[in-house]
Amino acid sequence: MAEAAQYFSSSNGNCSGSSGDDNRSSELVLSQLPKASSWLKSGVTLYQNCWFPSNALPNIISFQKQFKADDQDIILASNPKSGTTWLKALLFSILNRTDCSPSNTPLLTSNPHQLVPSFEFTFYSNPKRHDLNVMSSPRLVSTHIPYSSFPDSIKHSKCHIVYICRNPLDVIVSIWHFVNNGHPDRFWKASLEKPGKVLFLKYEDLKEDTFFQAKRIAEFIGFPFSKEEECNGVIEQILELCSLSKLKELDVNKHGRMRPNFENKLFFRKGKVGDWVNHLSASMVERVDKVMKEKLSDSGLLFKMSR
Ligand code: A3P
Repeated sequence: MAEAAQYFSSSNGNCSGSSGDDNRSSELVLSQLPKASSWLKSGVTLYQNCWFPSNALPNIISFQKQFKADDQDIILASNPKSGTTWLKALLFSILNRTDCSPSNTPLLTSNPHQLVPSFEFTFYSNPKRHDLNVMSSPRLVSTHIPYSSFPDSIKHSKCHIVYICRNPLDVIVSIWHFVNNGHPDRFWKASLEKPGKVLFLKYEDLKEDTFFQAKRIAEFIGFPFSKEEECNGVIEQILELCSLSKLKELDVNKHGRMRPNFENKLFFRKGKVGDWVNHLSASMVERVDKVMKEKLSDSGLLFKMSR
């Protein structure tokens, strides 16, 4: 708890628009929330029915309180280890395709996470260094928080949300952690209720037909590929550029670091669907299956849980 509160005061004291009173009342709220240990160093805190990394929670609260969405914003939402890096590369390339060719795109020299920053880990983590207001429109920003915790300003604006989820068994293998905090069912329901606002993607579907899904994404965010682009192979070029094999081999992703103790190569592993069969025992799968049934049975959202 002390750690979360301390992090809160040190990072959020600088937030433009937040008063000392605001900080103190948020600190008080934080100090009263349930905490647990986890694979994350900072532990996790239960907030709005979801376990969040304790060190990111103050930033998330600032994001909720302060963010003003613009109708042009494009928000990439995901659970960690669900294909965020891939989708960042794809969205960035789709949006910037007229200015950046495959031979001069910043993707060749920057990690996708540097090109598509995160609300809670970039802007609201260090508001002095990172300013959302200087981003050109449309702003492309990511988050790992669930739809239910989104700032109202996003829900009420006309901005677009592209969400990607992945079979939790593969997520577990990818992260060695049971990640059910993202509440994919909420995004799923939101995408059914507001199909023009939320695009719901599955990593598995993106893998199966990347060409079709890339066209769908481009259309959804209002940047559809023209017939001419399609005939000239622009879509294939983007898919090739954003492929795991291409990104993984780039110098920036092989040798670069996000932070001194965080290597970019950690974002790129096998990128396989169903790798869980090689790692999880039948009893582990059974446990996850039980939780999935509990959490998702009413939603109609299905993942392959058998070998
Ligand atoms: P694996 O660990 O199963 O290989 P995130 O980006 O949300 O952290 O997700 C990481 C997962 O996406 C990792 O899965 C990683 O290998 C995979 N991944 C990263 N870049 C990818 C790409 N360009 N295409 C497909 N999968 C990718």
